[in-house]
Amino acid sequence: MSDNYHIVAALSEMSEGHQMYIELDGEEILLCQHEGEYFAINYFCSHAEFGLEGGSIRDGCITCPYHGAEFCLKDGSVQAPPAPFHLCAVLRCARFASQASRGWRSQPGSRV
Ligand code: FES
Repeated sequence: MSDNYHIVAALSEMSEGHQMYIELDGEEILLCQHEGEYFAINYFCSHAEFGLEGGSIRDGCITCPYHGAEFCLKDGSVQAPPAPFHLCAVLRCARFASQASRGWRSQPGSRV
């Protein structure tokens, strides 16, 4: 397996709307499944650094459960205040096919 890919969870652990905290290479990440796609975003909101876990997910965005900032799951961009910055680490995720069909993998993507 390439160094750029990491198996981080089994598909059986993720269902629609499910969120999961992971730590990977020192980064704290929130995994989400939404409308059949998988996303990995910074665990902490850029507003007051509280965790995004438990935030509602709708129309491709997660809403921070503390003060309501919204972030795009695809690119981490701020969609609603009060967050001042985009999320700084967004990973691209893909299902891990073939021999490990139960798993999925992530590849570090561009920082925003
Ligand atoms: S901590 Fe997320 S909006 Fe304040």
